[in-house]
Amino acid sequence: MRWPRGVDGLCFGGDYNPEQWPEETWHEDVALMREARVNLVSLGVFSWSAIEPRQGHTTFGWLDRVMDLLAENGIMAALATPTASPPPWFGLAYPDALPVWPDGTRLTHGSRDTYCPAAPAYRRAAVGIATALAQRYAGHPALAMWHVHNEYGTTCYCDHVAKAFRRWLRQRYTCLEALNEAWTTAFWSQRYGEWEEIGPPRATQYLGNPAQLLDFRRFLSGELFSCFSEQRAVLRELTPQVPVTTNFVFGDWVPVDHRRWAEDLDCVAIDHYPAVPGLPAAEHTAFHADLARSWAGGRPWLLMEQASSTVNASGRLVAKRPGEMARHTVAHVARGSRGAMFFQWRASRGGAEQHHAALVGHAGPGSRVFREAVDLGALLGRLAELDGATVEAPVAILWDAEAWWALLGPGLPSPDLDYLGALQAAHRALLRAGITADFAAPEADLRGYRLVLVPSLYLTSDQGATSVRRYVAGGGHVVVWYSSGVVDLDTRVWIGGHPGAFREVLGVRVEEFHPLLPSDSLPVVPDGASAAALGLAAAEQLTGRVWAEHVHCAGAEIVARYTAGQLAGLPAITRNEYGEGIAWYCSTGLDEADLARLIGAALARAGVTPPAGLPSPPSGVEIVLRRSGQIRWLCVLNHNDEPCSLPLAGTPFSAGSDLVTGSVVTTAAPDEAVIVPAGGIAVIRCE
Ligand code: GLA
Repeated sequence: MRWPRGVDGLCFGGDYNPEQWPEETWHEDVALMREARVNLVSLGVFSWSAIEPRQGHTTFGWLDRVMDLLAENGIMAALATPTASPPPWFGLAYPDALPVWPDGTRLTHGSRDTYCPAAPAYRRAAVGIATALAQRYAGHPALAMWHVHNEYGTTCYCDHVAKAFRRWLRQRYTCLEALNEAWTTAFWSQRYGEWEEIGPPRATQYLGNPAQLLDFRRFLSGELFSCFSEQRAVLRELTPQVPVTTNFVFGDWVPVDHRRWAEDLDCVAIDHYPAVPGLPAAEHTAFHADLARSWAGGRPWLLMEQASSTVNASGRLVAKRPGEMARHTVAHVARGSRGAMFFQWRASRGGAEQHHAALVGHAGPGSRVFREAVDLGALLGRLAELDGATVEAPVAILWDAEAWWALLGPGLPSPDLDYLGALQAAHRALLRAGITADFAAPEADLRGYRLVLVPSLYLTSDQGATSVRRYVAGGGHVVVWYSSGVVDLDTRVWIGGHPGAFREVLGVRVEEFHPLLPSDSLPVVPDGASAAALGLAAAEQLTGRVWAEHVHCAGAEIVARYTAGQLAGLPAITRNEYGEGIAWYCSTGLDEADLARLIGAALARAGVTPPAGLPSPPSGVEIVLRRSGQIRWLCVLNHNDEPCSLPLAGTPFSAGSDLVTGSVVTTAAPDEAVIVPAGGIAVIRCE
């Protein structure tokens, strides 16, 4: 199924909330959308109270007129089911469907996402409004796709949830003894004698049970997916030709296992808001785009929301610099997105997000952002041929939401263990080296990758451990970081020495953890020839922070040793030949430049270089290679304030054309280079 239905080329548009505006504004909106070549809008995401202002009383007239207006103007709709924000009457009619915090506080209406996902009244109402929308708009020419809900992620601890959690636990464990074993309830007298004794992890006296907390997230992920799939079932029944999606939100508060959800979606859609400006925002963009592509299993996916300004975690807006919005957009498209959508089309006059960035700001279309949006619409038209081409990614980083959640649990040996930080550091090192990475599930078939990085995979299943072992035995190369392979699926420690899940393949046995204080660091000095492999001169050393370990080699060779403190003389970094492959282990948190050295050495040993014989990009320049049959595209994003020059002679791109400028590229002579302007983009096509 081609999705979204009826949209040719790449998608461009955003959340459109016409219910906030008088009807004459709608006409200006569609005229401006046409000017900017908008071809898709997410419509009605928060429109429940406009569609059903009183229980059972629907007012679709305004939405009919908007849908008709869009269709008349050739603009398609990702029509939302508005179930992320039930109207005020809902909470009054069904107080038991309002969410409850861990401390027992029941929330009241006043914001959004104020519902309990397990409450029968909410589930009925959500399916009801989705059914009414599908009945009304089945066959409407503007209907391109269903956008179910918005950013599933709501948590609740009420009695409905407790009941549903117990039901889920009974299915998972069948008998109480299995649950008691998995949750290690012998500790602190937590043994359960009846299922009814078990509840969600509500507020308690001291540290909670890590296995219970992890299972609660697993359960919520499934419960929220049931909310989604109940709506999807009626949408599919009434509109079988229309694809159904939901937009993913990413964060440690989100109890959704996106990779597992993605296996069962018509298409993956993500929202992306870097919380930092400048180059880190570009790196954040590449990270999330690669995650989305990996969740989508390499198929196209869609950036459903981004902003024309950076919105940071404390709510501060940082205006994106000229060209930055286009670079973020093309970064997503280069990494496989079927277009770029924004939150939101027109900035709201009031409401909690009235100052959030938009494509048409409060100043109206006479603005830099709108002019850039018009240019972007035209550019996306020229990049449409990229759609569906394969993204070349020779390296994988292992990704597992459950490992992340386990590392957010209580009672860890250091508060500085940071799953996401470790993954981002690994991804950044590859990005800077000009290597695109996929994120793979630990249990996936890894044979297509030349190198696999395993940062902080604290929780590792039997299957994950076996998969890595087989991959290396068959000739693969891996680098495993500290705090990987420590606990199993039930968060129980793999005993016999760390990292239990990877001991054999790494050829090491860790006797004891030595977490470091934030103010501490340890010098790490390469052994013998390793210094050259790590790009170090004779007297140079690496620096370890956050963590160290008492490592014994059990077959592995020493790459570098600690040279100070209790661990002086003991291995810090090792390398093990296992079967046909090589497994590196790093037992400490290397500084960024040192981590890049280690990854660089592993890349070199695995024979991984930037694709198509390209040079490593200059600092601040991002490259991605796409391929479809004989055609290749090199996407170059220059995030610097100065032009960059790429020597492409001798590569397939020495003769081609740039889709951005329409110019011919010839760099046949060794001293010729492609110049990408400051903050600019090139997408060079060659056959
Ligand atoms: C999310 C939501 C939008 C909006 C933006 C603001 O992505 O889906 O409704 O709140 O954040 O950044």
